[in-house]
Amino acid sequence: MAKEPVRVLVTGAAGQIGYALVPMIARGVMLGADQPVILHMLDIPPAAEALNGVKMELVDAAFPLLKGVVATTDVVEACTGVNIAVMVGGFPRKEGMERKDVMSKNVSIYKAQASALEKHAAANCKVLVVANPANTNALILKEFAPSIPEKNITCLTRLDHNRALGQISERVNVPVSEVKNVIIWGNHSSTQYPDVNHATVKTPSGEKPVRQLVNDDAWLNAEFITTVQQRGAAIIKARKLSSALSAASSACDHIRDWVLGTPEGTWVSMGVYSDGSYNVPAGLIYSFPVTCQNGEWKIVQGLQIDGLSRKKLDLTAEELSEEKALAYSCLS
Ligand code: NAD
Ligand code: LMR
Repeated sequence: MAKEPVRVLVTGAAGQIGYALVPMIARGVMLGADQPVILHMLDIPPAAEALNGVKMELVDAAFPLLKGVVATTDVVEACTGVNIAVMVGGFPRKEGMERKDVMSKNVSIYKAQASALEKHAAANCKVLVVANPANTNALILKEFAPSIPEKNITCLTRLDHNRALGQISERVNVPVSEVKNVIIWGNHSSTQYPDVNHATVKTPSGEKPVRQLVNDDAWLNAEFITTVQQRGAAIIKARKLSSALSAASSACDHIRDWVLGTPEGTWVSMGVYSDGSYNVPAGLIYSFPVTCQNGEWKIVQGLQIDGLSRKKLDLTAEELSEEKALAYSCLS
């Protein structure tokens, strides 16, 4: 029997990530090739005409899984009945801007949209915040949507996770599909800690630690980390626009693994509400290694954290605590 359609909201759908993301969702990349979807697309009035153009293209592409499109500038209409909300709408960082500069513009958007989701989304709606500052926007959304379970509110660090996989794949010269279990700890910002201490590569003679195959701790402890931390800025410098196709693809990876589960023996990175695991302060949206099963994520427990890693976990937590305080000061 055909499945019931899932309603997926994309905010900021007329923007560049939105334009890359909605066809992926309509093709089944996010929820599977047998899962019909109804797309809800929200943008602001100045983008209404462009949003309507995206809707026209979705109709023209004749996606078999796409059972309906709601394109609107009305946040209530956009949020009504949605099962999944991908929050891309906001003010993007431009070349030369620090992420903190965009904070005040975005926290008020996320406060307002939290209320609309809380009142009008389907019960158990899963939320992924992409717009920067992603962790703190997600935290604001959580704080102003108290009836949405905190485990349902997440932010995107899967792009950073995928970037780390990509760097290791290039360095070791193996397909990226053979690399797994990197970790992004903390903030989706330049203080994030891309950690390869538990990562492995599948080789013809079995799984080998990344550290053994790379055999260059100096590179792994310095250049690799800064390359991943600075990749967003490098893309902005090259394109004069922030990353879009990789962000859209990673957002699909995030939701797909959350809903359909992570493969056995594999974890992914997600920004989730901290419960104090690994001595990360509770009450922050912090990126952890997680496994997913039956639509629920769980933080991977018991990993050894060495001294260098501890410092880096704490540094990015400190930045998130500062962002949280700044966000609250913008709201008052
Ligand atoms: P963009 O400017 O092309 O698109 C943003 C869209 O949001 C625009 O169409 C704009 O009109 C719309 N918008 C603004 N305010 C809105 C509101 N209140 N409600 C609904 N829509 C609204 O930007 P983009 O390149 O698509 O990036 C979107 C966001 O994603 C930015 O904040 C960017 O920094 C962030 N980003 C995050 C990651 C990540 O990994 N977490 C990666 C890349 C980009
Ligand atoms: C990215 O990681 O590509 C973006 O978050 C960059 C940015 O800061 O907008």
